[in-house]
Amino acid sequence: FSHNLNAVESTLALIKPDLLADPQQVKTVENEIQQRFKVSQRKQVFWKTEEAQNFYQEHQGKLFFNRLIGYMTSGPLIALALTGPHVISEWRLLMGQTRPPQMRVLKPETLRARFGLTDTRNSFHGSDSVASARRELAFFFGPDSYDRFLRV
Ligand code: PPS
Repeated sequence: FSHNLNAVESTLALIKPDLLADPQQVKTVENEIQQRFKVSQRKQVFWKTEEAQNFYQEHQGKLFFNRLIGYMTSGPLIALALTGPHVISEWRLLMGQTRPPQMRVLKPETLRARFGLTDTRNSFHGSDSVASARRELAFFFGPDSYDRFLRV
C-alpha cells in the first residue's frame, strides 16, 4: 500500500448524553481531546431510537440492549472523528474500558473513571477496529469519510 505507512487511522469518539448534561465537563473533555488528537470533524446529534438501534446492531439481543438504546436517545451526543497514528487504540486507552466503577480502581486517570457514572452511563464510545471505525464514521460523516480523514 502506498498510503498509511505510519499506521495513521481515524476513529469515531462519542461523548454520550450524561456528559452533555454538564457543559463545563464537555469543555474540559474536548480540550483534553484536542490537545492529544487531531479532530477531523465534529457533530452534535440527537438520535431517534431507530438510529441508535442501527448503530448498535451488533449488540441486539444482549440483556443491556434496551437500556443502552434508552440511554443513547435520552439527550444529544457529540460525535468526533479523530485522526492520527494508532488513534483507534490510543483513544480507547484514554477512554478506559466499559465499566467506570472498575476503571476508578484499575485506571483512575481514564476518562470513564473520571466522568462515567455507571456501567450504562459510561460517557464515551470508541470504535474498536479499523472495520468498525469505517462503518461508524460513515454513519455520522458520510460514506468514505474514513478515507477522506486520512487524506487531509
Ligand atoms: S460486550 O458484551 O462485551 O460486547 O459488551 P461491551 O463491549 O462491554 O459493551 C458493548 C456496548 O454496550 C454498552 N454496555 C452497556 N450498556 C448498558 N448497560 C450495561 N450494563 C452495559 N454494558 C455494556 C457498552 O458501553 C458498549 O457501548 P459503547 O458505546 O461501545 O461503549
